[in-house]
Amino acid sequence: MRKLIVGNWKMNGLQVDSSILIQKLVDLWASKSSEYDLLICPPAHLLITLGQMIQSSNIALGGQDCHNEKTGAHTGDISAEMLKDAGCDYVIVGHSERRVEHNENNALIRSKAIAAQDAGLVPIICIGENAEEKEDGRTLDVVGEQIKHSLPPGQGFVVAYEPIWAIGTGCAATPKEVVETLNYIRTVLAKRYGEAEADAIRILYGGSINPKNAGKFLTMDSIDGALIGGSSLDAEDFWAIGISCLTDKEKKD
Ligand code: PGA
Repeated sequence: MRKLIVGNWKMNGLQVDSSILIQKLVDLWASKSSEYDLLICPPAHLLITLGQMIQSSNIALGGQDCHNEKTGAHTGDISAEMLKDAGCDYVIVGHSERRVEHNENNALIRSKAIAAQDAGLVPIICIGENAEEKEDGRTLDVVGEQIKHSLPPGQGFVVAYEPIWAIGTGCAATPKEVVETLNYIRTVLAKRYGEAEADAIRILYGGSINPKNAGKFLTMDSIDGALIGGSSLDAEDFWAIGISCLTDKEKKD
């Protein structure tokens, strides 16, 4: 499957620095971007400016969260339709930082994913266990529950497996751990959506991916891409992660 590399900038970036970063990315990606899909999810205030800068590149634009309703009295929130209006094709929902800092539960995340689909966006739904759940050997149970309750009924979404203990810690999961969990996720998806449909769903890994370890994950068939936080804030690092999807031959071409 074609890999998807996502840069989640979180709450980082002012206009001048971000424009420089994006321009570097556009230049770096000009030659290689046809081999895999690249997406950046900057903070909301940058979407329109950066969207214009990437318009003639292969880089896509996404939001970091959306409300589950279309409009209304929700101070500080942004709707899926607004993200679409700003030029987005994707939106991340259910990131663990939203689940923890904003008390978001599976039911809310599911309704956000449905709102995103209704607005013509592809939701990237994040799931993953915390350190305690991992130590208790409950990873698959936790992930299974999250899939059951936070995924929308219809297709047209991406799943990102992001173990919370690996996010921003410099301590990535091992490729073996990731593959085991992703295989389990695909089995659960197949039961729910059908085998052929599940095979077409992209399942990403995220958590402390950097240019040094990216190749270990991205050369594996069962890992369909990556969600990158910290390393997406440096154009060269992000580019180096992207090209680690490529075979040696593709890198040379
Ligand atoms: P990280 O973040 O790459 O900085 O660990 C990943 C994420 O939160 O999506």
